[in-house]
Amino acid sequence: MTGFKTVSAMVKAMDEELGITVPVALHLDHGTYEGCYKCIKAGFTSIMFDGSHYPIEENLEKTKELVAVAHGLGLSIEAEVGSIGGEEDGVVGMGECADPDECKAIADLGVDMLAAGIGNIHGKYPENWAGLSFETLDAIQQKTGIMPLVLHGGTGIPADMIKKAIDLGVSKINVNTECQLSFQEATRKYIEEGKDQQGKGFDPRKLLAPGADAIKATVKEKMELFGSIGKAND
Ligand code: 13P
Repeated sequence: MTGFKTVSAMVKAMDEELGITVPVALHLDHGTYEGCYKCIKAGFTSIMFDGSHYPIEENLEKTKELVAVAHGLGLSIEAEVGSIGGEEDGVVGMGECADPDECKAIADLGVDMLAAGIGNIHGKYPENWAGLSFETLDAIQQKTGIMPLVLHGGTGIPADMIKKAIDLGVSKINVNTECQLSFQEATRKYIEEGKDQQGKGFDPRKLLAPGADAIKATVKEKMELFGSIGKAND
């Protein structure tokens, strides 16, 4: 969408002009301290400050400051404790398990969502992945109470682990790589079948449509698995 003065005007227009009936947020994922301020200025409606690579005192200090700024402007804010493995936007983590006391300290700052490392990593899971640490998740949930927990690295986590994580307090699951792989597979098929060379199959609107539809199908599948259908207005 183009022609909007601010990002928040665009988000509002998405609701009104596209007839979207569920709340829509434009959320910054794994924001740096400076990146958070840039997105706040640009009109994002939700931010994530990923201070997990800082010493905990600095993560606490910066998160506290950003909570005050975000809430002052009506934005929601997610924070992170315990670096999540793999590589995401240049932030590299080794798949740590977060310290439940540190999670409580960050949760007590009044963040809206908390991402905590429980052995999850971004991207494809290696063959020898040990799985999610439910012991850690349980300990975090006991300390943070009703705080909605966020599970990053949703790609490739088996359905039974996903369901158990939801039972233990996970309220938001991030899935990216799997959507990208669906897009890749459908686009590759379109080109390998020579469809881009038939008629006006080279038109980007046609060329990119199978990939976009494949992402939609993956998102629908995930929404069914996560039990999030019909809950947006609860
Ligand atoms: P995946 O790419 O592994 O699904 O992780 C996405 C994510 O956690 C984005 O923050």
